[in-house]
Order: sequence, then C-alpha cells, then structure tokens
Amino acid sequence: MSEANPAAEYAASIIVPTYNEEGNVAELISRVSGALAGVNAELIIVDDSSDETPVIARALAPSAGIAVTVIHRDEAEGGLGGAVVTGIRAARSGVCIVMDGDLQHPPEKIPELLARYAQGDADVVVASRYTGGGTAHGLSDQVRVAVSKLSTMVTKAMFPVRLRECTDPMTGFFLVNKNAIDWESLKPRGFKILLEVLARQPLRVTEIPFDFQDRHAGESKASFTQGLRFLTQLTQLRFGRMSIFALIGGLGAVANVVIMAVLTGWDVPYVWAAIVASVLTIVGNFLLIELFVFRDMKAAAGPMWLRFAKSFAFNAIEAIVRIAALYVVVETWHVSSVLATAVLLAIAFVVRYVFHSLVVYKPRRDGATQTGL
Ligand code: GDD
Ligand code: MN
Repeated sequence: MSEANPAAEYAASIIVPTYNEEGNVAELISRVSGALAGVNAELIIVDDSSDETPVIARALAPSAGIAVTVIHRDEAEGGLGGAVVTGIRAARSGVCIVMDGDLQHPPEKIPELLARYAQGDADVVVASRYTGGGTAHGLSDQVRVAVSKLSTMVTKAMFPVRLRECTDPMTGFFLVNKNAIDWESLKPRGFKILLEVLARQPLRVTEIPFDFQDRHAGESKASFTQGLRFLTQLTQLRFGRMSIFALIGGLGAVANVVIMAVLTGWDVPYVWAAIVASVLTIVGNFLLIELFVFRDMKAAAGPMWLRFAKSFAFNAIEAIVRIAALYVVVETWHVSSVLATAVLLAIAFVVRYVFHSLVVYKPRRDGATQTGL
C-alpha cells in the first residue's frame, strides 16, 4: 500500500461533516486551528445544512489560522458517510482526519493522532471511546450507552478478524491514509463510515483513547432510522459468514428431525431418540462450521478439543435455557408454543453466532496477522 502522496499540498486534511451545526461551527474552526498551530493543514467542511452553518463557516474562513474549504451539497447523498467520502476525495493531503462538527471529538486530540500515524505502522488510527482511558460519557443517556455497547459487540462478532484491532468501529473520529483505501468500492450509507472502511479491506489499524465529550450546542442527528440503516449496512457487509452459519444451522435442524424419525421408527423411545439426534447434530454442526464458517480463524484460536468443548457446552446450556424460557413464556403469556419456539430459536441463533465468533474462535493473546474477513 502506498505512502501518503509526496506531492500533497498539505501535511493533513481535517474532514468535518456538518448538518445544522450553526451553534458549533465557529468554535470548531477556532479550536481546530488552535490545535494545528504550526502544522500545514487544511480543514474541509462538508455541509448538508439548511441553517446558517455554511454561511458562518465561509465568513470565518479568511481569518482562520488554517486553510478552510466549505463544500455545501445540495443533495445530501449518502448522508454523513457520503459527506465524509466527498471530503476525502477533495482532500489535498494523503493524511485525512475525520471528526464530528459538534465538538464531541476534541480537536486537541488531532496532534496525537498525527503523532501515532507518524510511527509508520498503521493505515488507520482510530480514536476510541473503549480503549484504555477512553470514555463515552457524551452519549446522551443510558439507553444510548447500552445500544452503543451492544451494537459494537455484535459488529465485532460479525467481523472478528477485520475488527480485531479496533475496540470502537462505530466512532466517527479517526485518521486514515487516503491512499490505502479504494474509496470507489465503498457504499457509504448513514453514520458508520469507519465500519465500511475497515470491513471492506484488510488494513493495519491502531488506536488511541479519547473522551467522547458532551455536544457543544444543538442536538444529535442520530435517530431510529439511522439505527435501521446501520442494521442494513451490517447485514449487507456481512452477508457471507453469517449466512453460511445460518444455512448449516438449518441443515442441522432438518437432520435432527430425520434422525428422530429413523430412530423412533426402530422403536427407540423418543426421549433417547431426541438425545441421540441432538448429540449427532451438535457434533455435525461443529465440524461443518469449523470447515466452512470459521476456517480462517482456527489457526489463531485455541486447540480443537477446547473449541469443541466450548461449542458443545454452549449448545447444551442454550437448549436447556431455551426450553425453560419456552415454558415460562407459554405459561405466563399464553402465546402459542410454536410462535414462542420460533422467536426463541431466532434469538438463540444470534446469540450462538456471537458466542462462536467472540468466544469459541477468539484468537489467543499472540494472535495471528489479519488475513481475511
Ligand atoms: N454533511 C452531513 N450530512 N453531516 C451530517 C449528517 C448529514 O446527513 N448527519 C449528521 N451529520 C454530522 C453532524 O452535523 C455532526 O457533525 C456529525 O455528523 C455527527 O452527527 P451527530 O448528530 O452529532 O451524531 P451523534 O453524536 O449521535 O453520533 C456520533 O457518535 C457516533 C458514535 O456514538 C457520530 O460521531 C457518529 O459518527 C458516531 O458513530
Ligand atoms: Mn454528536
């Protein structure tokens, strides 16, 4: 992967997407300029606002301590993610730093990102809320904290290799070597641009901690729709590994029924038949996911007997908990047992996938290098 373009006009380009940030943009320009005193950097504001944000930014540009460019888009294509890609395309440095315009990402951290990148061993430096010393206290309430933590966990489970070095794939504060990424291949949708960058290609990732601050002014644009967009993005990016896992799970269910039918046909008592069918499908399932789902992660994970023990224990406990939950749900809410079974199986499927990719195939400390998804 190539180094930063030597002919670049600037040592760094700071890219800030803005949507109705008129109460923040002046403070942003002043603090970014202050943090970069002595650095030959530019600030690119990519704006989709309907308020005075671009007017204020353009008015302040000539007197700012660094070069300021304001790109106002008439159509907010791709939302926040699309704005970031537009900014990176316009950047006149190979070293691009992306951050929010509401000062939840402190500009004073920029020199630290640059210094970390200057060590030369990374394509991406992530400012993380979840690594040593970082905090997420700026998230508005406990619900958002929980949603953020849970979605980070599921996302990491879905990209266990590519996100191995990243504790905060949902952060909007990071440095990226523009020339290490194929920007044309990205399909930015909504808020999670870093995830899109990291998931699509193997990159060398490192992190620094930061404190996610309270918003300086105005309100967050995060919404339920953004949440749904994020889920679509995840499924589309991750269709591969998880769908094979689902297919194998489905085959296992069919095999289970067939074995039951054969054994009871031979007059084996049904409870015994169920136990035999379960054990056989659990073992078969394990062998298939070893081969087809987590093949690339086996080498870095623990020994096979341990992987099997964890997988087997999970399935046994999962079955017991699921059946107990079925009993409770049916007896207390009087819903149909078939419907309850379907819902519980769907939940169990997600939990099983998360458990396998985060626990069963967790890389040992010394970990292997990133080879694939
Ligand atoms: N150009 C443009 N277009 N900018 C946008 C748009 C848009 O459609 N939507 C939001 N922005 C800008 C905002 O003006 C702000 O500068 C930044 O993107 C983040 O938006 P917020 O509304 O402040 O979102 P948040 O604080 O809830 O989300 C932040 O935290 C998340 C992690 O919890 C963002 O940093 C996300 O990127 C981050 O994932
Ligand atoms: Mn914000």
